[in-house]
Amino acid sequence: MKLQTALSILAAIQAVAVSALPAVEKRAPNHAAFSRPVGRLFEIDEKVQYFMGTNTYWIGFLTNDNDIDLVMKHLKQSKMKVLRVWGFNDVNSLPEPGTVYYQALIPGQEPYINLGPDGLQRLDVVVHKAVHYGIKLIIPFINNWGDYGGIQAYGNYFGTNATNWYTSAPAQAQYRKYIKAVVRRYKHSNAIFAWELGNEPRCKGCSTDIIYNWAKSTSEYIKSLDSRHMVTLGDEGWLVSGGDGAYPYQGGEGVDFERNLGIETLDFGTFHQWPHAWSMPYEWGSQWIKEHDEIGKKLGKPVILEEYGDISDNHTATRLPWLDTVYYDTKIAGDMYWQYADFLSDGPSPDDGNAVYYGTPEYKPLVIDHAARMVAKPVV
Ligand SMILES: *[C@@H]1O[C@H](CO)[C@@H](O)[C@H](O)[C@H]1NC(C)=O
Ligand SMILES: *[C@@H]1O[C@H](CO)[C@@H](O)[C@H](O)[C@H]1NC(C)=O
Repeated sequence: MKLQTALSILAAIQAVAVSALPAVEKRAPNHAAFSRPVGRLFEIDEKVQYFMGTNTYWIGFLTNDNDIDLVMKHLKQSKMKVLRVWGFNDVNSLPEPGTVYYQALIPGQEPYINLGPDGLQRLDVVVHKAVHYGIKLIIPFINNWGDYGGIQAYGNYFGTNATNWYTSAPAQAQYRKYIKAVVRRYKHSNAIFAWELGNEPRCKGCSTDIIYNWAKSTSEYIKSLDSRHMVTLGDEGWLVSGGDGAYPYQGGEGVDFERNLGIETLDFGTFHQWPHAWSMPYEWGSQWIKEHDEIGKKLGKPVILEEYGDISDNHTATRLPWLDTVYYDTKIAGDMYWQYADFLSDGPSPDDGNAVYYGTPEYKPLVIDHAARMVAKPVV
């Protein structure tokens, strides 16, 4: 999802004194405790199960540990298992003191990965709390969009653009340095569900070879650093045929979901569902879900609906049919709604029109009830 707004709350967050930071967990290697694919599903905490999860891109940018704790506690109480959080936050100039950033790409200076208390130490807290509450994390390394830096921030530094970033040697070298810094940090933690190449990578108007080759070589690189955690692409699931040639089926964004899913070092497929942004009717969502399930079946890999949202008058009326499709009609391994929201120490977390807040009336049918049926769904 492209976030154009809803950042004001974060911007307003005051620097809160960072108390003693928990050490990142360094448990002894234990293959059994790591999430892994089993057929079309995943083994999570040594149990093969379906799951429901969600997205909180902002949680690693919070400066109050209690807020992170509150969210994780509520996720657990809601029986959600997997959480996606931004593992990137790139800047081209230093922000106000107390504002979190992870990587500085300041023209004229050496790139700098921020391991300090206003840097990756904030993500440490997220990982630590995830361990405590048994939540598993999906962590993407770059944004296709300009929010929190992304390909544009690399472009401002390396002179690349949205399409040649994928093949620029200096930009890719820095991207890999960043990946290495994050992967090393949490390589031994079973709170990591999967590493993700990026949020919604696209290469508009490009041959699908560009993203395919980039996804193959980058995922191979990540596996060379850390062979035990899963790796996924983080794409929107674009198809290159079918659907009467409507936008999601044109391959115009340079992404071929089925072809990419064939990459050996990608453990599972992701797809997103934004009918209103793609000029598709909301009801089409159920078809999109079934089509990705079919591809997962054909390739024998798990596929997850990693983001979905709507800005209709009634989230429940719009989304319940999608959730019923996931639950009754497919082996989609998990779905993760966009976006979880909660009431934090400084006010409500961001709402881009898609948010469903913890504890509200719509939270029950869309989260509590669905999460409960997903974890209880028979695996055969
Ligand atoms: C990026 O730059 C290349 C030239 O290196 C050009 O061919 C391409 O069209 C540009 N892409 C965009 C999105 O501007
Ligand atoms: C929203 O839709 C649900 C399911 O169709 C319905 O039960 C509920 O009453 C609707 N809520 C409002 C405020 O219209």
